[in-house]
Parts: sequence; structure tokens; C-alpha cells
Amino acid sequence: MAADKVTAASIAARKLSGKPPGEAAEKIAAVTAYDATFARVFDAAGVDVLLVGDTLGMVVQGAPTTLGVTVEDIIYHTRAVARGASRALIVADMPFMSYQVSSEQALVSAGRLLKEGNAEAVKLEGGAHVCDAVSRMVASGIPVMGHLGLTPQSVHALGGFKVQAKDDAARERLLADARALEQAGVFSIVLEAVPRAVARQVTEALRVPTIGIGAGPDCDGQVLVCYDFLGLFQGFVPRFVKRYAELGDIVSAATRAYVSEVRSGQFPEDRHSFGTAARAEPASADEARYASGPKVRE
Ligand code: KIV
Repeated sequence: MAADKVTAASIAARKLSGKPPGEAAEKIAAVTAYDATFARVFDAAGVDVLLVGDTLGMVVQGAPTTLGVTVEDIIYHTRAVARGASRALIVADMPFMSYQVSSEQALVSAGRLLKEGNAEAVKLEGGAHVCDAVSRMVASGIPVMGHLGLTPQSVHALGGFKVQAKDDAARERLLADARALEQAGVFSIVLEAVPRAVARQVTEALRVPTIGIGAGPDCDGQVLVCYDFLGLFQGFVPRFVKRYAELGDIVSAATRAYVSEVRSGQFPEDRHSFGTAARAEPASADEARYASGPKVRE
């Protein structure tokens, strides 16, 4: 394993609170990823954790919730992400009803995500009620990430995608759930859509790092859905998302240009064609790429 490879253990060690400023670890930067091409780009850009989130049900499959995602879907996408990354920790989300039935079911599902998907850790939603499953997986050598606050697999019980832990009782429950998960052995906990003060209190109360999404700046790290921060998802954009690019607009403009050039005959040009003068030039990078890939016949 390369010296700078991010592992569940190195993420657990990146706890900020309680450390003197000089010793404080760097914040954890996590993003979701669903394919090898994006995984390669994120990995090279220094992302610590690539989460193959069940948000793929919404942003890749186009469903209104994450509930329809299957273990097979997560395995397929995790295999692709794992092929693209070399440094980042690969975390596979456990889909709805792949761990809620029993701790045995959770262990079998998580085992498949590691064996067949090449995940290096799994994430599941929920607090005290999933702790038996967490302990069982951790005892079997599977690193587990928790997920509290807005847990999208409970969208129908929660009455929508809403900010959680807004009153004292809910805040106390969240804190108790976070402590229970830590006790069960998780190496980190995602806190989604909770007030900043609540996230700070939970972060200060735990020895394992918190990774926030819509939980303010005081968590030990942040995670965003890649289609959101890249501006690819054109639907509802939650307030906590910062769009670092508008790739949707760029892709749209490029596609319009392509369609127009195909229709007008501007594309392809001579230099994009085989068996022409341009082809007789010294081997280009494109040819090198073809030479190492499938053969293209002239
Ligand atoms: O499924 C997912 O992408 C997630 C993130 C939003 C944390 O759980």
C-alpha cells in the first residue's frame, strides 16, 4: 500500500477537536463518485474519501429518492470507482433494506460490497438501532462509517428532505445516537442537514471525526454530492451546496456545438479522419492511445 494511501484508520486519526492548534489534523475532504473517470479526477485532486453514495439513485438513475438502489447497483459503481482511484478511501453506501433486517443481513451485504465491489469501508444510516450490525461488521474487519441527521432512506418517515435535530429532544437523541455509533466502532460519522450548533456539539463530544453535509463548518470534514458541487444536477439545489462549476451549462453548450457541426458538415474535418494526408503525420498521442487500446481499422 502506498505511504499516502488514505485508510479508515487514517481518517479516524484526523480528529480536529481537542487537539492544540499546532497538532490539529487537516480537515477531511470527501465527495461522492459513481464512475472511474470522475474517481480518477477527484483522486488526483487530493480528495480523501470517495463515497459511492446511494444518491446515485437520484443523480445517475433519475429516481426521486434513494430507496430503489440495490446492493448490485452499489457493487457495479464501486468497482468502477475503485478502478479509477489509488489514494482516496473508497466507501460504499449500504442501500435501503440491505442492513435493516438483521445484523447477519448487514454483514452479508457489507461483505459483498468489499469482496465484489472492492470497497474499503461501508456507510449505513441510523443510530442506536443499527449498532448491533455495526459491531458485527467491525468485528469482522469491515470499517463502518455512520450517518445521522437527515437520513434520506427514511425520507417518508421524516416527511421529506428536511433539516433535523431542531429541538432539544431531537438534539439529545442525535447526540445519544452518535455516542452509540462511536461505541459500536464506527471510524467516522456523516452529519447531514443539522443546525451548525448541533453539529459542533456532536463533533466536540466524539473521538471519531464528523463529516458534515449541510451541517456547518465546525465538523472535522465535509462531503458533497459531486453532481451538485460541479453544477451537473439541474433539479433542486439545497442551500448548503456550493457550486464550484457549472458543468451542466458547459456540457450543454458543447453538445449544441457538436449537434450544429454534425448537421452543417463542419465535423468531422480531414484531421479527424483516417486515410488522409493528416494520417501520414508522425504518430500522435491519439494513435498511441489506440495502439494500447482496441485496434481501429483503417
Ligand atoms: O448517498 C450519498 O451520497 C450520501 C451523501 C449525501 C453523504 O449519503
